[in-house]
Amino acid sequence: MTTSELIKQLFLSFNNKDNEAFLQVAREYIDREERKKHTIVARELEKALYQTTGVSNGQKRFKQNLPIPRDTEKGFPLLEIQHYEYDFDSLVLSEETKTHLERIIREFKDADILATYNLNYKKKILLCGKPGTGKTFSVQIVSSVLQIPLVYIRFDAIISSYLGETAGNLRKVFDFIENGTWIVLFDEFDIIGKNRDDSHEHGEIKRVVNNFLQMLDNFKGDSILFAATNHQNMLDSAIWRRFDAVIDYELPDEAARKQLFERYLQPLKRDKKINFSKAAKDSKELSPADIEMIAVEAMKSAIIDARNSLSMNDLDAAIEQFIHREKVKKHELRKE
Ligand SMILES: Nc1ncnc2c1ncn2[C@@H]1O[C@H](COP(=O)(O)OP(=O)(O)OP(=O)(O)O)[C@@H](O)[C@H]1O
Ligand SMILES: [Mg+2]
Repeated sequence: MTTSELIKQLFLSFNNKDNEAFLQVAREYIDREERKKHTIVARELEKALYQTTGVSNGQKRFKQNLPIPRDTEKGFPLLEIQHYEYDFDSLVLSEETKTHLERIIREFKDADILATYNLNYKKKILLCGKPGTGKTFSVQIVSSVLQIPLVYIRFDAIISSYLGETAGNLRKVFDFIENGTWIVLFDEFDIIGKNRDDSHEHGEIKRVVNNFLQMLDNFKGDSILFAATNHQNMLDSAIWRRFDAVIDYELPDEAARKQLFERYLQPLKRDKKINFSKAAKDSKELSPADIEMIAVEAMKSAIIDARNSLSMNDLDAAIEQFIHREKVKKHELRKE
């Protein structure tokens, strides 16, 4: 076959959605480059072909060709496929939490070896902790590091649709994810807990929870399933038991806050007098997401004042404003 014939075959297999054929022709093309001693090109092509799998068996990726499941009534998508490219180091976490996450990544990478000993990688992971501490971000990072797309599922989207349909929606979501290799995130998982006291919906929600737990138990796919919540006390032991690991996200300590300020103020030049230690002291109880927001505000102040570097004043003012805003928010909430 000439090269142009090979490419034509490639296009045809793409058009016919024939993944087997596509993979075969692509392999043949890479082998040719290899035979021509174009080693670098061959490596690059190989990487491009198998990139999204992150596992040694590139075939896995091509199993996936189901359409995105939708809610039957309204037709809205029940999940979203997302791609991220973050470094693991963008996360500022306690050593313990970081090690925990790293371990999950390593077990997944070594899933084949573990399987030869009849052992499983950690497949179902519950992430708990206050808002803005990096639960969703961590899953985006796992997806980046493993180079496997993230399937993002808003739990409330599934539930807020016609209640009777919820079980069907869940089934559709699980059918979809079981058919490929994904990093799956059931985000805002707390909806389950939150609605438990609501007697009106109690029965239905309970049914949905049981349904979800059953599907979780029976899950056979090659993915990692994450569920995230910031109301961990609302989840009962029946739910906790289902997970292979539970990771707790704490608010950052002073050293971590300092690191966060340094990281998030990186994009702009800074005055020599900038005192990150003071900023870290002044931002007790704030989350990484709060600190990121403060950093953005401080940098904007410097930029719109046409100064080309950030001053301690900018930073102090942004912290103060943020804390003030939080106070107002809490006060307002109490009045409600
Ligand atoms: N530990 C962290 N290290 C670095 N940046 C962080 C961290 N946590 C949060 N951030 C920043 O804050 C943003 C929001 O955080 P994220 O969405 O992960 O919070 P969350 O824990 O999922 O909160 P919620 O419970 O409200 O969903 C992230 O995209 C990231 O930019
Ligand atoms: Mg989140």
